[in-house]
Amino acid sequence: MSTNFYLTLVVITQSEKAIMFVLNRIKSSQNILKILTNSAKRQIEVHNSSLLLKKQVDNNLTIKICGESLKFPHVWLRDNCQCEHCFHSTAKSRTIDWTNFNINIVPQNVTEDGKTIEVTWEDGHKSKYGVDWLKFRRFTPDGQKNYTESIYKSKKETWRGDQFQDICSKHDYNEIIQSDEALHNWLEKLSIFGVALIQNTPDNEAAIDKVVEKIGFTRRTHYGVKFVVQHVVNTSNVAYLSNNLQMHIDLPYYEYCPGVNMLHCLVQTQSKGGENLLSDAYYVAEYIKQNHPKEYQLLTETEIEWSDIGVEDGNEFFKLHRAPVICLDMHGEVTRINFSIPQRGSFFPGPLENVQPWYKAHKLFYDLNHKFMARFKTNAGDILTFDNIRLLHGRNAYEDNNSNVRKLIGAYVDWDEIYSRLRCLKVKLKNQSGIY
Ligand SMILES: [Fe+2]
Ligand SMILES: [Zn+2]
Repeated sequence: MSTNFYLTLVVITQSEKAIMFVLNRIKSSQNILKILTNSAKRQIEVHNSSLLLKKQVDNNLTIKICGESLKFPHVWLRDNCQCEHCFHSTAKSRTIDWTNFNINIVPQNVTEDGKTIEVTWEDGHKSKYGVDWLKFRRFTPDGQKNYTESIYKSKKETWRGDQFQDICSKHDYNEIIQSDEALHNWLEKLSIFGVALIQNTPDNEAAIDKVVEKIGFTRRTHYGVKFVVQHVVNTSNVAYLSNNLQMHIDLPYYEYCPGVNMLHCLVQTQSKGGENLLSDAYYVAEYIKQNHPKEYQLLTETEIEWSDIGVEDGNEFFKLHRAPVICLDMHGEVTRINFSIPQRGSFFPGPLENVQPWYKAHKLFYDLNHKFMARFKTNAGDILTFDNIRLLHGRNAYEDNNSNVRKLIGAYVDWDEIYSRLRCLKVKLKNQSGIY
C-alpha cells in the first residue's frame, strides 16, 4: 500500500531532487517493512510454540504451560536456578552464592523444548527448569492451593461426635508394618480427620514401637519415651487415676507440644465405664467463631499459662508455657488447641478485666466440646491414634479388680515426623512429578 503510494509519486514528480527524496523514502519504507516482516515472523514462531514465552516489561516472565499463561518473577527464577552451580542435586538444597546476587536481574533469552525451559540471563548464566517443576510452583491461587494441600499439609475435615463412626478409619496392624500403601493410608486419614484406629495389634508392650519405627521416632517427654496409663496411687499425673478424666490435650505446657498421641490398649476394663471421649476441637472452634464471635476473640487472644510441676522416675520437672486456648496462624486458621483443666496454671497472665469474660468463653468451649464429643470404648489390640493438638480426649471412670487391670501403653510422635514420612510415601507411591 505505501509502496504503491511512493511509486505514484515518482511518476508525477519530474525534478531529480524530488525523485531522490522519493527513492530515499522507498528505502526507509522497505526497512520498515523488513522490520515488520521480521517481527511478524517472530510472532508466528512464538505462536507456533507449545509454550508461549514472552518477555514482559514488568519483573515477571510469562510462560504458557498447557494453555495457561503463568507468571514467574525474574528474581525467583534466578534464585531457584536448578543448575549444578546453584543447586545441589542430592542435598536438594540451594547452593547459589548470594554475595553478588542481583535481585534486579533480567533474562536475555528464553528457549524451550516442550519439557524444559532455558533462561539465559543478562550476565550470561544459563538456568534450566522442568515444565512440571515450574507448573507445580505456579503463583496462581489454584496453584498455591494445590501445592499446599498435595504436599504441604492435608486439608482438615472437621466432625461432630455423631459422625465419628463414619470418619474414624480402621487399619490393620500387620498391613501398616508391611505395606507402604497401608502406612500412607493410615497417616493420611489421621492428618485429615485427626483420628484413626489401628486394630489387631499384638499383645505386648513393644508392639507400638514397630508402628513408631515406620514413621521415625517418638517424642520423649518427662513421662518417658513411652508411658503406661493405668491406675497408680500417689500418681504424678491425674491420667493415672481411675476416676473421670476430663477432656484435655496432653502436655499443653510444652511450647513444642507432641503432635500425635498413640494409645495401645493392652487391657480394657470389664467394669462399667472406661469409655474413651473424643472431641474435634477444630469443629468447636469454627462453631464458636460463627455463633459466638466475642468468645472466639477471647479464646484466640487471651494468653493462658499451662503448667506441670512434679517428679517422675526421680526426675523433677517444672514446665510452664503461655498460649491461648485456640491458637491461630497469620491466615486466621487454627494451628493448635490448648486445653486441660488440671494442667491450666493458677497464674492468669492477662488484665484483670479479662478474667470473668474469659471464664465465660472457656466454659462455653468446655460445654460445646462435651456436646459434640464422641463416646466409644477401645478393645484390647487397638491403638487409638489422634491429633493431640486438635482433638480433646478423656475417659469415663472405671474400676479395676484383681483379675482385670486396665492398661494402656502410650507414645507420642511429632507432626514434623509424620508429615515428613507422608511426603516421602507420596513421592514413592504416587510418583508425583514436579515435587522436586
Ligand atoms: Fe491424656
Ligand atoms: Zn545456575
